[in-house]
Amino acid sequence: MKLITILFLCSRLLASLSQESVTEEIDCDDEDVFKAVDAALKNYNNRIQSGNQFVLYRVTEVNKTVGSETFYSLKYQTKEGDCPVQSGKTWQDCDYKGAEEAARGECTATVGKRESTKFSVATQICQIIPAKGPVVTAQYTCLGCVHPISTESPDLEPVLKHAIQHFNNNTKHSHLFALGEVKRAQRQVVAGWNYGITYSIVQTDCLKKDFLLLTPDCKSLSGGDVGECTDSAYVDPQLRIASFSQNCNIHSGKDLVKPHPKICPGCPFEIPLDSPDLAEALTHSITKLNAENNETFYFKIDTVKSASAQVVAGKKFFIEFTARETTCSKEDNTELTESCEIKNPGQSLSCNAEVYMRPWEQKVYPTINCQVLEMTLLKKRPPGFSPFREVPGVKKGGGTIRHLMSCEYMGRPPKTGTEPKPESEAESSRLAQ
Ligand SMILES: *[C@@H]1O[C@H](CO)[C@@H](O)[C@H](O)[C@H]1NC(C)=O
Ligand SMILES: *[C@@H]1O[C@H](CO)[C@@H](O)[C@H](O)[C@H]1NC(C)=O
Ligand SMILES: *[C@@H]1O[C@H](CO)[C@@H](O)[C@H](O)[C@H]1NC(C)=O
Repeated sequence: MKLITILFLCSRLLASLSQESVTEEIDCDDEDVFKAVDAALKNYNNRIQSGNQFVLYRVTEVNKTVGSETFYSLKYQTKEGDCPVQSGKTWQDCDYKGAEEAARGECTATVGKRESTKFSVATQICQIIPAKGPVVTAQYTCLGCVHPISTESPDLEPVLKHAIQHFNNNTKHSHLFALGEVKRAQRQVVAGWNYGITYSIVQTDCLKKDFLLLTPDCKSLSGGDVGECTDSAYVDPQLRIASFSQNCNIHSGKDLVKPHPKICPGCPFEIPLDSPDLAEALTHSITKLNAENNETFYFKIDTVKSASAQVVAGKKFFIEFTARETTCSKEDNTELTESCEIKNPGQSLSCNAEVYMRPWEQKVYPTINCQVLEMTLLKKRPPGFSPFREVPGVKKGGGTIRHLMSCEYMGRPPKTGTEPKPESEAESSRLAQ
């Protein structure tokens, strides 16, 4: 069955695009992040048989996936504490064990949030590095919990291969389709594995009547039809795909060619960070930045955080990026070149640029606005966070950076009667060096 879905409205198109970005990296100042880490660490501590509990050291990475249920994918580091497993204490009641004989750990966990308060661990892998002896890996998977997995997981490959074959075997479309992009994937561990996958497919130039199966010679057609499929598969313990169901919507390629300028003139839209147009806008931005600031050294673009464009009698780009000081001085170099290396330690800037281009007049109007980021913090940026102690943001040169320092777990809350201040400050400055 061929379903043609036509997208009429700009708003609907934009809404459906935004729905696709369900996973985002988030800051560690989210209270739920702490609850998710707490659940993961308790899960680990509850499963160790002997020795001491592990205590949070810092959270290094957090992704949040919002769908019918919210999931946190976390990476965090732990240090061995001074309370035995059987002590009846929770890890928050323990201090770090003396550094020389303490074990360290790094865990990756997926934690689901239910009914807005319950956090349950779906999967967790911890690498424990003892003071002496080999690294130990501990793995936990909740049976029956559905949880998101990486869209790049190699376990998806056989399922996707089967899915594309299934589509091509059953479609009435004249051409074969190839896999576009995997958008979401989830897994449930049962006796075997259940997978749910959402991905796009693209029309190739191979006619179905000429080719039985998709081959590497089949090239995707630009302007061809595209589709989105949501499949379920059960893979049995022998790794066979024992049951499979598929639901695909095909959109006619004609409807989707350059939808933004056609359907929604004037709407800003996100552009890919590798687009050639953006490269030009970035060159103008950094040239402007170097011309405007009075630093001795040239700055270069380090990372582009986001970019969007708007069609308005020309094209306007909105770009957010960070720039770093290079070793090329303005005195010895007439311009910034590829070979200019980032200076370390060096200044960093967080910038917003607007570049308005009117190609027919060969005119470019860049404006740029940057804030200075803390130099030493960027040398060593501590991720992770403290749920218990508020550490103020660090101010410098008018730019405020939030939460860079508050990302470390700094031990348990002070006992009544002890003075927390000097100790915690000593601790945090030591860690920041
Ligand atoms: C978070 O997402 C990024 C980008 O998709 C990925 O590279 C990273 O491994 C993810 N981190 C965790 C802890 O899942
Ligand atoms: C698709 O058809 C080919 C050729 O008939 C067959 O070998 C293959 O197993 C089929 N694949 C699926 C997933 O149905
Ligand atoms: C750079 O120096 C010039 C002249 O001294 C001054 O007008 C300008 O505001 C300075 N720019 C910045 C970014 O400090």
